[in-house]
Amino acid sequence: MSAATTPAPAPAHIVFEQVSKSYAGAAGTVAALEAVSFAVERGEVFGIIGRSGAGKSTLLRTINALEAASGGTVRVDGVDVGGLDEDGLVALRRRIGMIFQHFNLLSAKTVRDNVALPLKVAGVEPRRIRERVDELLELVGLADKADAWPAQLSGGQKQRVGIARALVHRPQILLCDEATSALDPETTQSILALLRDINRRFGLTVVLITHDMAVIREVCDRVLVLDRGRLVELGEVWRVFGKPRAEATRALLQPLLHDLPGDLAAALVPDVEGLGGIPDRPALRVLSLGFDGAARPRGLPFEALAALGPGATWLHGGLDRIRGHAQGRLLVAVPVGADPSFDIDAARQALAADRIEVLGYVHAAD
Ligand SMILES: Nc1ncnc2c1ncn2[C@@H]1O[C@H](COP(=O)(O)OP(=O)(O)OP(=O)(O)O)[C@@H](O)[C@H]1O
Ligand SMILES: [Mg+2]
Repeated sequence: MSAATTPAPAPAHIVFEQVSKSYAGAAGTVAALEAVSFAVERGEVFGIIGRSGAGKSTLLRTINALEAASGGTVRVDGVDVGGLDEDGLVALRRRIGMIFQHFNLLSAKTVRDNVALPLKVAGVEPRRIRERVDELLELVGLADKADAWPAQLSGGQKQRVGIARALVHRPQILLCDEATSALDPETTQSILALLRDINRRFGLTVVLITHDMAVIREVCDRVLVLDRGRLVELGEVWRVFGKPRAEATRALLQPLLHDLPGDLAAALVPDVEGLGGIPDRPALRVLSLGFDGAARPRGLPFEALAALGPGATWLHGGLDRIRGHAQGRLLVAVPVGADPSFDIDAARQALAADRIEVLGYVHAAD
């Protein structure tokens, strides 16, 4: 194929190159972002996580140039947003919608007028505004609330208005800063379903910040982890959640991990001699089997557990499915029997577990 017929690969939708941002404050300079580089592909749902103050909102706000980077470049569709003049910025922000934790609706305007406002500001003729607003309220499931006031809406409905307003200019990118943080779990699910639907239907690129790891697991394709302004981890969600590498990621994911139940932890001893010989209560070896979705994407067949020998018992834990990959941790107990030796490599092979370790020994229950 000649060079002339080979299409150039489409550039990534959003590209960060060595982006830094510092704020000058009374207590000195705060480095909110330090040399952050990554790219968001067109049409992906991209998550950003990190502790409070890690720089997530700052990062998001540099995409639509609400914050100017102190160093490096942010490109959207190949254009350096730092080099845009006023008109360029207006055009950029029309291509990028944004929604917020507290919805930012105008309380003195009806639902219809809240959604219409950006179109009015842009000088769109009233008939076109009406059509577009009706279309959007239909899309977000609020056609019957056009004349309601924000105070008459639930949190989920307010966020739907926020989404409709963010989409008025048919943007290609939607930025979400903790857009579900003020909502209960069920409402969160319905907003996530709406975001997914919009993402698929319009091929919208979605960049979202959340403190809720379940949200990331539910909707994101990839996730970026920020820690004190630095990018410490980036990858497909199932990979990052299955095998977090950075300490900051592990800390954020801690609530999702299956910890050892207290009664089991109290009964465990590190070696079989520690149990003392009680002949009628056989010793059990407690194993932790970790699956990170790579070796066994489809899950663990029941028969595989039989490879551990007769009497293997599933004690605790389970597998999750994250975007088509099974991962999690199972604790199993296996009778020690007459031979206290244990071939951990053979067990690893038979089970295709990504991680396997002997946690210790307990007596079989009464
Ligand atoms: N306008 C500002 N002026 C001075 N410092 C700021 C400003 N905005 C943010 N910062 C500082 O920059 C750092 C990153 O803030 P940012 O809001 O981006 O964090 P975040 O990850 O969004 O936190 P949270 O999860 O609490 O929303 C913090 O130390 C913060 O205090
Ligand atoms: Mg923030």
